[in-house]
Amino acid sequence: MLKFFIKSISVIFLLSYVHSAQAGDAAAGKKVFNKCKACHGIDEGGKNKLGPNLWNIVGSPIAAKEGYKYSKGMVAYAGEAGNWNDENLDIWLKKPKDLVRKTKMIFPGLKKEADRENIIAYLKANGQ
Ligand code: HEC
Repeated sequence: MLKFFIKSISVIFLLSYVHSAQAGDAAAGKKVFNKCKACHGIDEGGKNKLGPNLWNIVGSPIAAKEGYKYSKGMVAYAGEAGNWNDENLDIWLKKPKDLVRKTKMIFPGLKKEADRENIIAYLKANGQ
């Protein structure tokens, strides 16, 4: 009986681990977003700052926020890649210059995979 109990507990732990490894946590991502706030707003209809407003960015066309002047590198990348998704956002947020060599987003990147997953969940939560 005890053995069965211990086994069930470990299965539950394993499942919750696998779940958290796959889907980011938007609440945790909100804290990570503090690193972006100096340059980005995320409220609907909000203003662009040094960087474009990020409302509803996941699934939206790259470099397409109205009234924002993107770098040439970013516009060229948009022509190749189209929309933001989990994959290209992960590379972008890990090290922006690896995705768009001449971007004007001066940000070293988020080294931790969990930070990137959580912030992508937060970006998704701030969209339609
Ligand atoms: C020092 C200012 C700065 C910081 C900090 C910063 N960014 Fe940016 N971000 C920019 C600029 C500037 C651009 C426009 C890049 C270009 O045109 O080359 C940009 C562009 C972007 C884009 C593309 C938007 C679009 O319309 O296609 C995303 C997504 C993004 N940033 C996310 C983030 C996230 C998430 C963080 C925090 C982890 C962050 N940025 C931190 C300045 C910043």
